[in-house]
Amino acid sequence: MLIQLQQVLDPAAVEKFRGALEQADWSDGRGSAGYLSQAVKRNRQLPDDHPLARELGEKIIRILDGNQQFTAAALPARMAPPLFNCYEKDNSYGRHVDGAIRPVFGTPHRVRTDISATLFLSDPDSYKGGELVMEDTFGPVEVKLQAGDMVLYPGSSVHAVRPITSGRRLAAFFWIQSMVRGDRQRSILYELDKAIQKIATESPEQEALVDLAGVYHNLLREWADP
Ligand code: NI
Repeated sequence: MLIQLQQVLDPAAVEKFRGALEQADWSDGRGSAGYLSQAVKRNRQLPDDHPLARELGEKIIRILDGNQQFTAAALPARMAPPLFNCYEKDNSYGRHVDGAIRPVFGTPHRVRTDISATLFLSDPDSYKGGELVMEDTFGPVEVKLQAGDMVLYPGSSVHAVRPITSGRRLAAFFWIQSMVRGDRQRSILYELDKAIQKIATESPEQEALVDLAGVYHNLLREWADP
């Protein structure tokens, strides 16, 4: 399931993030890639322990904590601290898969990468190329979002970032271990949750709402590991 979340960061926050990242000292992105990915990765990144990455990453986590759509879609159990990357002319990231397990820097914890997230920080008109391409069961899907918008996609997908031909693409990316490991089960729960919310808004007097909410929670009980 591919989900787009709009305005995770409002324009003022995007401006602050970009202002800070423009000044940052970026490193070669290959440092954090596995053996196969290193061969196709051409970008720059902030290292895991970079103070700016930590500061902005914590802000993103705090904002997502209060984002109901994110919580409903991801059912997060743990999150890897967000990282930041920068693609400029001739940068790209060829077809690759993300490792299934990520260590969490500076802690003994690990995150299973059930869901991959990319939060776009650059205005899409400010750079050419740089689409995130995911190979889905229905074929390739291309995503290039407004600054402040975020895409969630299954951590299991083969994906790539198209070459940049001009401008600069800044983004945050990270992984989420979900309470519900399977993408299919998570999709069913998300669709059911949206339907319940819609009925609750449009006709809250419906008695069956309670029964539907019961079904949602019973499925969650079946499938979730908190
Ligand atoms: Ni990736």
